[in-house]
Amino acid sequence: MIGRLNHVAIAVKDIAAASAVYKNALGANVGAAFDQPEHGVKVVFIELPNTKIELLEPLGAGSPIAKFLEKSPDGGIHHVCYEVDDILVARDQLKAQGARVLGDGNPKIGAHGKPVLFLHPKDFCGTLVELEQV
Ligand code: CO
Repeated sequence: MIGRLNHVAIAVKDIAAASAVYKNALGANVGAAFDQPEHGVKVVFIELPNTKIELLEPLGAGSPIAKFLEKSPDGGIHHVCYEVDDILVARDQLKAQGARVLGDGNPKIGAHGKPVLFLHPKDFCGTLVELEQV
């Protein structure tokens, strides 16, 4: 069902400092930061030849990544995003297998303007999984 790895997301406390690490130390093609208030994050995408890195900084009170950064103050891998052809078909197949979909179970529009869903880490080897319809 899943296709390509769309991105790996890394939660950080300071997205400007993290962007500088990727740009200067790693020599990566770092995009501009933008706010995603509906997801409670500030986002930077870094284009790699075969995938993307998504840097996430908490935005606003109650950001879903604030707790993660309390436990991992240096930052860390927050989720992986896999591409799917049809997000509703994928969701229904996963729910039929007993997987838990986070939130109200309906896709939201993600950072690329495409529908996304998140799956419970306890059902996927301890890793928060994002599905994006491409
Ligand atoms: Co993501």
